[in-house]
Amino acid sequence: MMKRTVLATAVALVSGFAIHTAAVAAAGEPIQPIKPPASINIGMVELGKKLYFDPRLSKSGIMSCNTCHNLSMGGTDNIPTSVGDKWQQGPINAPTVLNSSLNLAQFWDGRAADLKAQAGGPIANPGEMAFTHTLAINVLESIPAYVREFKMVFGKDKIDIDQVTTAIAEFEKTLVTPNSRFDQWLLGKKDALTKQEQEGYALFKDSGCVACHNGEAVGGNSFQKMGIVEPYKGNMPDGRAAVTGKDEDRFNFKVPTLRNVELTYPYFHDGAANTLTEAVDVMGRLQLGRKFTKEENAKIVAFLKTLTGDQPTFTLPILPPSSDATPRPTPFK
Ligand code: HEC
Ligand code: HEC
Repeated sequence: MMKRTVLATAVALVSGFAIHTAAVAAAGEPIQPIKPPASINIGMVELGKKLYFDPRLSKSGIMSCNTCHNLSMGGTDNIPTSVGDKWQQGPINAPTVLNSSLNLAQFWDGRAADLKAQAGGPIANPGEMAFTHTLAINVLESIPAYVREFKMVFGKDKIDIDQVTTAIAEFEKTLVTPNSRFDQWLLGKKDALTKQEQEGYALFKDSGCVACHNGEAVGGNSFQKMGIVEPYKGNMPDGRAAVTGKDEDRFNFKVPTLRNVELTYPYFHDGAANTLTEAVDVMGRLQLGRKFTKEENAKIVAFLKTLTGDQPTFTLPILPPSSDATPRPTPFK
């Protein structure tokens, strides 16, 4: 007994020390390393993962969350604006789901408070999965393995949309990407970045990008105007003003995370910038009134590419088969 207590204390001290040095290494920097998710419910994550990949939550039977937030491609669809049910052209670029748990709110205009509030939206959005919550629940209730799994996780006799969105949100909490080369550097591994990448980070700080892109997610923690020094020439929805109704919030958007930005092209709310070179040039001119030289731009882009972290890895979920009673998809109606 005594021995175990001593060992436990030693372990606690060692891990306490590791956390302490990590904090010291990154202290004073405007960007902080990504931490692994705090506490997650494994059973709920497994269920949420299935739902995330299940196209039977869409009217067509072919569209899942993963269609537009493809976890093999940085949690995005890599097209300017998403394709919805019946090949409808979406109005806005799909942001990545990676590290979205770190956002102060969800969507470009922040109209959903958190991941759970967000997750019900796309299923019932006629321009996305084009289903209804009632139909989605009917589908899940008709699949015995889902009924058992929901009961196991939530302990209730009936499946409801609240359980669906809770489980999806729990899975999304696991989609964080720690251990990027930049985070290794922050934590003290000084050879994790090349000279060019370090110069890029210095420029990113000194020219003022960090005023908006900071914190753990290098963004995601404030709403800011697009086009401070010069107006943006692309397609301009109202942004945050659509939520607050305030004129001063027009053209304000949630600052996107720059974590994994190498993977999440094309850029901006309208997906108009195809490359990081272009996005950095636009940001420099429109937000800071600064025209970067080719060399400076290349340095910043090199730095941004060091923000790619460990991508979520897991076994692709095998979805339980439909039963005779499961409502069938209607892809062509
Ligand atoms: C047809 C494509 C499509 C499908 C399917 C889809 N999404 Fe999205 N998602 C988008 C688009 C586009 C946005 C941005 C909308 C906006 O900001 O107005 C978005 C936004 C989000 C966000 C907010 C991220 C951020 O940084 O603000 C999350 C989280 C998300 N979706 C998760 C999901 C989940 C979970 C599902 C499945 C239930 C799903 N999406 C299905 C296209 C899609
Ligand atoms: C005043 C706040 C602010 C400053 C300063 C700023 N940004 Fe941004 N950044 C934003 C906002 C807001 C967006 C989203 C704009 C949109 O899509 O309409 C954005 C978008 C981006 C994107 C595209 C990300 C994506 O996923 O679409 C990149 C890359 C980027 N910024 C890099 C930079 C760099 C590099 C700098 C410094 C040269 C910088 N930003 C300075 C607020 C800022």
